[in-house]
Amino acid sequence: MLVHAITANTAYEFAADVRTGLARSRQKELPSKYLYDDVGTALFEVISHLPEYGLTRADERLLRRHACEIVDHLDSPVAVAELGSGSGKKTRWILEALSRRERTFYYPVEISRSALAMCERELSDIDALSIVGFEREYLDGLLEVAAHRQRGQHLFVLFLGSTIGNFHRPAGIEFLTEVRRILEPGDSLLLGTDLEKPSAQLLRAYDDELGVTAAFDLNLLARINRELDADFDLGQFAHVARINHDARSVEMHLQSKRQQTVRISAADLSVEFFEGETIWTESSHKYSREEVFQMARDSGFACQTQWIDDQWPFAENLLVAE
Ligand code: AVJ
Repeated sequence: MLVHAITANTAYEFAADVRTGLARSRQKELPSKYLYDDVGTALFEVISHLPEYGLTRADERLLRRHACEIVDHLDSPVAVAELGSGSGKKTRWILEALSRRERTFYYPVEISRSALAMCERELSDIDALSIVGFEREYLDGLLEVAAHRQRGQHLFVLFLGSTIGNFHRPAGIEFLTEVRRILEPGDSLLLGTDLEKPSAQLLRAYDDELGVTAAFDLNLLARINRELDADFDLGQFAHVARINHDARSVEMHLQSKRQQTVRISAADLSVEFFEGETIWTESSHKYSREEVFQMARDSGFACQTQWIDDQWPFAENLLVAE
């Protein structure tokens, strides 16, 4: 695989984002994309195996069961771009179905270098498949893939795992609209969306018994310590999962157990926390089936087909660019 060795986020950008998020006088927050360094990527991989967290397995089941049917909707020749490939495990079924039909190009776009490497290892055995990875932010990577598009080639974009859920609803539509702008009519997007489910089930999924999600969340502070020369005492923060009923999301927060001051040298920042104050680290929005059709229309697509898992409410949605 040819990994374009441009690191998506420099230490400088990380420091600037940490500074912006933690210097706020109201709710402190950190962008959730920073959860995925090498340690965070490995911890998320573990989360996806936890009994409480059915999301990834539902995604994978749907893709395995319906790969042939999904691929039948696509006109040849097609190039596949995936936004956030992760381990590449669940993409296998789609790529196998496609490469049985034609020589297939697969372009994973990932900010995590270790996830890109994992994905290449995982999929390297598939015949008639060429993999070119892009270590980029999603839209930058997709732009680059589109720039290399060959005449008559259709783009098939995968945005799986309900990563869309990390965007606030309006920002999610905006993001899909940006994706649509890069595409041409007839290109398609397979969008994975986690569906609404009971609060108790969501809280268990985002605050598991083993504490893996807590470690995943706390790793963000450990990462700031490692990369920005900070002195967060991880024992003085607790992972909290909360339901936001208005936003229809689950939020992850890191809650300060006491009043404390943290020094982040590389961001030239001292941060005061009061007891009980939180840093908001992630939102994971949940959707209704009907809502996805509207989101598609609002961003210049038509949702052609929707596949629903029978064990964990999750939808795979095939959106076609209008
Ligand atoms: C990878 C963004 C889909 O929101 O469910 C898992 C990340 N956070 N447990 C999600 C996550 C806590 C996950 N996504």
